[in-house]
Amino acid sequence: MSRAIPLRAAAGALAAAALALAALGAHGADRPPLRDRWSAGDLATLASMQWQAAGERSVDRSNAYEARADAAALGRALFNDTRLSRNGQVACASCHAADREFQDGRPLGQGVGTGKRRTMPVMGAANAPFLFWDGRKDSLWSQALGPLEDAAEHGGNRIRFLHVVQARYRDRYQAVFGPLPTLDALPDDASPNGNDAERAAWNALPAASRDGVNRVFANLGKAIAAYERQVSYGESRFDAYARATLAGDPRGQEVLAAQEVRGLRLFIGPGQCVSCHNGPALTDHAFHNTGVPPLDPAAPDRGRAEGVKKLLGDEFNCLGRYSDARPGECGELQFVSADDPGLVGAFRTPSLRNVAARAPYMHAGQLATLGQVVEHYARSPRAAVGRSELAQPGERRPGRQAIRLSASEVQDLVAFLGALTGPVRQPD
Ligand code: HEC
Ligand code: HEC
Repeated sequence: MSRAIPLRAAAGALAAAALALAALGAHGADRPPLRDRWSAGDLATLASMQWQAAGERSVDRSNAYEARADAAALGRALFNDTRLSRNGQVACASCHAADREFQDGRPLGQGVGTGKRRTMPVMGAANAPFLFWDGRKDSLWSQALGPLEDAAEHGGNRIRFLHVVQARYRDRYQAVFGPLPTLDALPDDASPNGNDAERAAWNALPAASRDGVNRVFANLGKAIAAYERQVSYGESRFDAYARATLAGDPRGQEVLAAQEVRGLRLFIGPGQCVSCHNGPALTDHAFHNTGVPPLDPAAPDRGRAEGVKKLLGDEFNCLGRYSDARPGECGELQFVSADDPGLVGAFRTPSLRNVAARAPYMHAGQLATLGQVVEHYARSPRAAVGRSELAQPGERRPGRQAIRLSASEVQDLVAFLGALTGPVRQPD
């Protein structure tokens, strides 16, 4: 997609600067020695994992409204509005509650019906090139359109939403996006994703009407995205520790207990966690099969293999007519590969920020505790669908060894994961 600031490059520059500082701090004349010593390579890794290394938020060129305060205020109202659902009871906030880490604590999303995947937090989503567990969307605004018409979530349809906007948000909408199309001769309910009657009503509409409705629908997503962009992670104790370590400040290192530091050493060392959970958000934003047992073994979720097909066929992607980006600004979409066998059963690496505050875990909430998650890596089971990227015990793979962890090391890693929790930043 359309990222103006390459995060990795920014993180790399910061890491270099931080390393230079660390070298000064560690060898400075009057400095007491550090409690915990790290190699130069480890220091570079710690620097790259700091939240402040994320730098400025990148710009989504496919959404011309994302930085506008009026769009964000409208988006916030829409995010909380249960009228945008089939039964009048479901809003984005029903599953993404602002006072619960913008998620729901359930194994599976519960809206008009029950979904098949675990609710993801909204924080960090503005920096993800591909959204959802299977990456079937390539922007925050286009993502928001999915749940609105999903039968298990809001269960609404785009013409019904247009009626709600006319009745409730007319002035606020028009102040941001310009005139609403006229509703004359439009049915109450119609959508290409709805039930049989709604699809038939949609297909009967002239192309110009469908285009007008789609544009309003896309704009609702753009307003919601402008709001979601204002929601982000804040600094955790880990970040304070990394800063103190890089600055050569032994007192500052006390923010982490010895067990948490042992867990951090495992995380960036023999546990190999950082090979996928890296950078400021502790995710490589990529898709991996890690052998997580499927929710339904009879019909295992194929993850990214299906997600990528949906993404390429989506009329609301970065290259589509409702995107504000030029084609050259949709690099990630243009270079996406659709036929890599490694995509079968692969899911997006989740951010580990605030992870201790949002059990249960994995794409369908299969694992109840962080202890179970870390034990999963130590066991590295074979995948039910596709092939796990994790090496099995005794197996050697290029760039990967089996993750061997003792019971006490599992506990150390769990303790470290708890140090990644910080405040959720959101508008007042
Ligand atoms: C019924 C519960 C439910 C409702 C309602 C809901 N979501 Fe979600 N949300 C989920 C689930 C479940 C996922 C993951 C689904 C998947 O990957 O297939 C998700 C994923 C997301 C993500 C992706 C985060 C990421 O990092 O990729 C964002 C952003 C999001 N939702 C925003 C919204 C918005 C905006 C709305 C309202 C328009 C909304 N959600 C309504 C349950 C819900
Ligand atoms: C090969 C890449 C890879 C490696 C190595 C890896 N992870 Fe993961 N991690 C993932 C993916 C992908 C998921 C989501 C899997 C799913 O839901 O099917 C995940 C999920 C998680 C989750 C659940 C987060 C949530 O929100 O549900 C935690 C916690 C976690 N990993 C911690 C670790 C730790 C600790 C290590 C090291 C012992 C590690 N990971 C090693 C890729 C990896």
